[in-house]
Amino acid sequence: MTRTLARPLGRLRLGVNIDHVATIRNARGGAHPEPLRAARAAVAAGADGITAHLREDRRHIADADIEGLTALLRDLGVPLNFEMAATDEMQAIALRHRPHAVCIVPERREERTTEGGLEVAREENRLAHFIAPLAEAGCRVSIFIAADERQIEAAARIGAPVVELHTGAYCDAHNEGRFAERDAELDRLRRCAAFAHGLGLEVHAGHGLAYETTPPVAAFPEVMELNIGHYLVGEAIFTGLDSAIRRMREVMDRARREAFGEGAA
Ligand code: PXP
Repeated sequence: MTRTLARPLGRLRLGVNIDHVATIRNARGGAHPEPLRAARAAVAAGADGITAHLREDRRHIADADIEGLTALLRDLGVPLNFEMAATDEMQAIALRHRPHAVCIVPERREERTTEGGLEVAREENRLAHFIAPLAEAGCRVSIFIAADERQIEAAARIGAPVVELHTGAYCDAHNEGRFAERDAELDRLRRCAAFAHGLGLEVHAGHGLAYETTPPVAAFPEVMELNIGHYLVGEAIFTGLDSAIRRMREVMDRARREAFGEGAA
């Protein structure tokens, strides 16, 4: 059985996903609100990185956004986490921009958001070949997967240094009041974070996280990074992006302090 660590591995990073700033912009087809302005504001509010998903159908982030974000974040010295499907088109774009990080996600046109994790175990060979040039280009490759030991083992076998655990099922169960299922999902995430760390993988988590659902995940000592978007952009409507991000940072830090004592945040 894998044991969780007694102390966090390091400071928990917050990656702010700005996809839905582009969703709002695209609703009118103009330039406002600008994802680049959101990225600048997120960094000023304490984001450790910016995450953006260029989907095949370009429903939110566009190619020009990735170009602009690459230049802006390089200037600011802040990492860009480029989320993409494992397609030749996206690989070529990633190799052109060489972002700090690439997160490989499953993508289906008909889905509203990224619904599950990547089926790494079923596509090991193809994915191993797919990520090799990205790693050679200096991108830190992470694989977005469900909390499932089989997928974690497969991610390690294909040579990915990082896995991001999909927290969507846990958040949905919480939001819908299915608390026994929520707790079971949380246990699964906790076990899988420890398991992945035991295999030498860096562990990230994300999808659907909000102020209420973030603390238990932030308290997993193996988790090094959370990627959060939709909720923060939604909260920004009421409190502003700066305040929403600062509050999320406080929520994360408090969770670490409460779990591991002062100095753990
Ligand atoms: N991590 C990954 C891999 C994602 O695909 C997404 C959504 O694009 C997120 C994190 C952020 O999810 P949310 O927008 O629900 O916070």
